[in-house]
Amino acid sequence: MGRFYVTTPIYYVNDAPHVGHAYTTVNADAVARWHRLIGDETKFLTGTDEHGQKVADAAAKHEMSPRAWTDQTSARFREAWDALNISYDDFIRTTEPRHFESVQKFLTAIYENGYIYKDVYKGLYCVSCEDYYTLESSVHGNCPIHERALVEMEEENWFFKLSAFEDRLIEYYTTNPNFVTPETKRNEAYSFIKGGLRDISITRTSISWGIPVPWDEKHVFYVWYDALINYLTAIGYGRDDDEVARWWPHSHHLIGKEIIRFHCVWWPAMCMAAGLEPPSHVQVHGWLLVGGQKLSKTMAAEGEVRLTDIAPVTLTNEFGVDPVRYYLLRETSLGNDGEFSHEGITQRYNTDLANNLGNLVARVTTVVSSKCAGVGPAPQANSVLRIEAEAAIARAAEAWNRFSPQGALEATWTLIGATNAYLERHAPWKMEPGPDVDAVLGDALEAIRLVAILSTPAMPEVCEEIWRRVGLAGSPSGQTYPQSVVWGQYCADGPVERGEPLFPRIVKRP
Ligand code: ME8
Ligand code: MG
Repeated sequence: MGRFYVTTPIYYVNDAPHVGHAYTTVNADAVARWHRLIGDETKFLTGTDEHGQKVADAAAKHEMSPRAWTDQTSARFREAWDALNISYDDFIRTTEPRHFESVQKFLTAIYENGYIYKDVYKGLYCVSCEDYYTLESSVHGNCPIHERALVEMEEENWFFKLSAFEDRLIEYYTTNPNFVTPETKRNEAYSFIKGGLRDISITRTSISWGIPVPWDEKHVFYVWYDALINYLTAIGYGRDDDEVARWWPHSHHLIGKEIIRFHCVWWPAMCMAAGLEPPSHVQVHGWLLVGGQKLSKTMAAEGEVRLTDIAPVTLTNEFGVDPVRYYLLRETSLGNDGEFSHEGITQRYNTDLANNLGNLVARVTTVVSSKCAGVGPAPQANSVLRIEAEAAIARAAEAWNRFSPQGALEATWTLIGATNAYLERHAPWKMEPGPDVDAVLGDALEAIRLVAILSTPAMPEVCEEIWRRVGLAGSPSGQTYPQSVVWGQYCADGPVERGEPLFPRIVKRP
């Protein structure tokens, strides 16, 4: 079995989480659950990014100390992830002592390797991005993402010799063609490198809310320079070399497309400079848009988008946890932008969940109750459904393995559709009890068993409930893969139970 280390970006604690953060975190969670399911030793890291100007400004605005503000806001991320049933193994906060230690050791290594020098920084800065722009990359002096005025900065700073890594990055990209996926995003990062790299300023004297530079205590590290290292802090960089060696070669960073440059250019170069291999894979996703605009905490603060309407907890209260997870996973493929809307989630809920999955489970459990005295019959070894099931399993597994929850669910739903069609063809509800009914229902129960296993990374609670209702013992996530997805294993351990509808239809709001 393999090993799998997956991370989300660590989110800024300038404000509460919104559904954009939930999108990344739910996708990482489902993929982590898939890897646990197939027996990989798995570590899933998320957390909060707590230094920098933006967070210090937010604390000041709320008349709180940065420490108190970050404690409070970081806790809101954990609450949101609890509400969404996120199975992270570690939650890192960049204000923790373990992170200070790793950052200082990592950057001292780069310093000692000769890739950090002092110079004067002069340029344009966007506090919302915590990023620099040139006049050419700005939109009339405004930030292209936040559309706010860039601030002129001039400071004596420490610089990282990013320019020294152009050739090595190009080589890394050419020898590791799947370093960044999807390919369009890989090409974006690659052409950025090909376009020539400039050294970057990595420290600040203008603020004190940050991690002190060990060799020059007047400075703190620039927030991005501390943040990226979180991925190593969590596996013990500078404290436990064996842990780093165990996890780092299996690292996968899931990120939004606006932070490609940091993760796909700076970060691999920083690793090289510190004498480490770059991370093994960066999976980039697009933006969720509302009415065509990126959700942003900054815009929400300015009243342009009402994010409070789409806070993760508001959604889970309205639709249920697993339906929200399903929608976030199923609606857009990782890499493309997607539109988030109430109409969209309602429609997915009613069609995919209520009509397809919910209806399948309801009709099978009902007919088993009425025609088989509530005991689930065995499937047939050579059912036509078996062919559908085997194709769906192969496609779903392949999709889960390449970071495509959408593809995996789409494949799984073809099996649901095929099973519903199979039931309609045979109409067991019209048949007399006996071996023919048993055969059809046994096949359908087996398909449900397989659907529950393939969908459990996406909808863990619902799939456990389905498992229980069809009379199986244990849980869909507790089966040994790949033996568990071989056709023909359904065997009732207990009574089949009809129960309440899994997904009561949502009637459109007036
Ligand atoms: O960038 N659609 O933090 P952040 C999809 N602290 N994903 C979205 C999204 C949207 N509309 N809005 C946010 C930072 N995200 C840094 C990261 S990592 C070392 C430091 C998700 O709070 C997406 O994953 O601005 C995006 O990359 C991330 O939140 C940015 O969160
Ligand atoms: Mg952001």
